[in-house]
Amino acid sequence: MRLSLSSLAVLGLLNVASADLHQLIVGTFKTESLYTLEFDDAALTLELIGNFSANAASSWIALSHDKKNLYGTSFTAATPSFVSYTLASATDIIYNTTLEIGCNSSAVSIFAIASSEPPYAVYGCPFVGASNCGAVMSVDENGVLSEVIQDYSYNTSSGVHGMAFDSANDFLYSADDSGNALWTHSVDNTTGELTFVSSVAGPVTGADPRHVTVHPEGQYLYVVLEGANELAQYSIDTTTGIPFFENVTYPLIPSGSANADYWSDEVALSFSNNYLWATSRARNTTNTGYISAFSLSSNGSIATQLFLTPTSSSGGQANAVAPSTFSDEFVALTDSATGFVEVWKLGAENASAVARVDIVDGGCCANAVWYS
Ligand SMILES: *[C@@H]1O[C@H](CO)[C@@H](O)[C@H](O)[C@H]1NC(C)=O
Ligand SMILES: *[C@@H]1O[C@H](CO)[C@@H](O)[C@H](O)[C@H]1NC(C)=O
Ligand SMILES: *[C@@H]1O[C@H](CO)[C@@H](O)[C@H](O)[C@H]1NC(C)=O
Ligand SMILES: *[C@@H]1O[C@H](CO)[C@@H](O)[C@H](O)[C@H]1NC(C)=O
Ligand SMILES: *[C@@H]1O[C@H](CO)[C@@H](O)[C@H](O)[C@H]1NC(C)=O
Ligand SMILES: *[C@@H]1O[C@H](CO)[C@@H](O)[C@H](O)[C@H]1NC(C)=O
Ligand SMILES: *[C@@H]1O[C@H](CO)[C@@H](O)[C@H](O)[C@H]1NC(C)=O
Ligand SMILES: *[C@@H]1O[C@H](CO)[C@@H](O)[C@H](O)[C@H]1NC(C)=O
Ligand SMILES: *[C@@H]1O[C@H](CO)[C@@H](O)[C@H](O)[C@H]1NC(C)=O
Repeated sequence: MRLSLSSLAVLGLLNVASADLHQLIVGTFKTESLYTLEFDDAALTLELIGNFSANAASSWIALSHDKKNLYGTSFTAATPSFVSYTLASATDIIYNTTLEIGCNSSAVSIFAIASSEPPYAVYGCPFVGASNCGAVMSVDENGVLSEVIQDYSYNTSSGVHGMAFDSANDFLYSADDSGNALWTHSVDNTTGELTFVSSVAGPVTGADPRHVTVHPEGQYLYVVLEGANELAQYSIDTTTGIPFFENVTYPLIPSGSANADYWSDEVALSFSNNYLWATSRARNTTNTGYISAFSLSSNGSIATQLFLTPTSSSGGQANAVAPSTFSDEFVALTDSATGFVEVWKLGAENASAVARVDIVDGGCCANAVWYS
């Protein structure tokens, strides 16, 4: 392992390792495969090293806190269900079980997130129009999904598409795309069960919060607005956990573009939490989506939008950005229009794709997680 801090220090980028191999796992929207990719951060190459025959197509996958388990949505199942795998390594994936959640049986599971604090419960929600509910799932001593311990409701108009915890896992925030709202629930740290705290409407009608993430300092929360094609910064009342909008937004499509032609997708913090990434997708595959990064002040407030750069494709249903877990420099970006994963590198004033692997199977690629 070689450290190359000198060039990075100029940019304020943090990097713990260089000249290393890193593995990612990628799910798909339609095919029952989990793909393993390997990224070489010195040679800047990306290779497909594993094709695991999975038990579901997973529109979203999430790692457990210790990366020993992988949870996925069962996107092709007739009832909302979640799949649990044990990871012996990034290529040694073992299917354990599928859990059906009790809420709305005509919806499809869309998103899962694992708590990083005991009891390490997993939270899942279905989507398709208004699906109104979510579920809390317990795990066994090995992190395998065990049982549904709580089915909880949002609103009759709700359809939650993404969720995030604060760093202490005291609160779970839900981005309600169909209901144009942002929900706060408190988390019982013994059982993992949720209690309703608040629901606040999106910034404007049709803003449609899709995904959300919280800065570890706990004072700011960022929401990607699928309909408004903006990134919104909310402040958090640290005593109640409730986010409030202070009219701080940044564009995720160029000015003059029609909102109806895009649907913004993802927001995620970089490895050091000094940067925030966000993406939009184009609804027409003849157009490209966009990727943007922001520099953050130490308390998490957005300092500057660094760039808004066209991606290689529309992104299809994806264009999901996944920052690496070892360096601020690298993020993965997935496309489902033709099926590929790229790794992008952050430079002084912009970012660009430095490695790519095409995975053309008719369903890839949904979201990527960095295993190492
Ligand atoms: C999950 O799979 C692992 C690896 O095969 C196995 O050791 C464990 O017993 C399984 N757990 C359950 C609950 O199936
Ligand atoms: C269940 O989901 C379907 C499909 O989105 C929706 O039409 C229906 O209203 C939902 N039912 C409830 C009780 O939320
Ligand atoms: C539920 O939705 C209704 C109708 O859209 C709205 O008036 C109400 O404020 C919502 N309630 C919550 C808790 O979001
Ligand atoms: C669990 O939550 C209770 C009540 O909010 C709090 O008093 C306690 O400190 C928490 N425990 C841990 C380990 O965070
Ligand atoms: C929000 O900010 C925009 C400019 O960023 C401004 O045009 C608008 O008037 C502001 N709205 C409110 C309610 O302050
Ligand atoms: C996509 O854009 C192309 C080129 O502008 C246009 O011909 C086509 O009709 C558009 N497709 C849809 C579905 O809007
Ligand atoms: C966070 O830091 C910024 C920049 O230093 C400052 O403007 C802002 O007031 C701080 N926010 C809070 C909640 O202290
Ligand atoms: C970033 O790169 C893209 C693609 O090369 C270019 O279109 C864009 O103008 C650049 N943006 C900045 C801020 O340099
Ligand atoms: C992965 O394996 C499945 C099942 O054998 C196969 O259908 C699919 O085409 C493979 N994917 C790639 C990209 O080769």
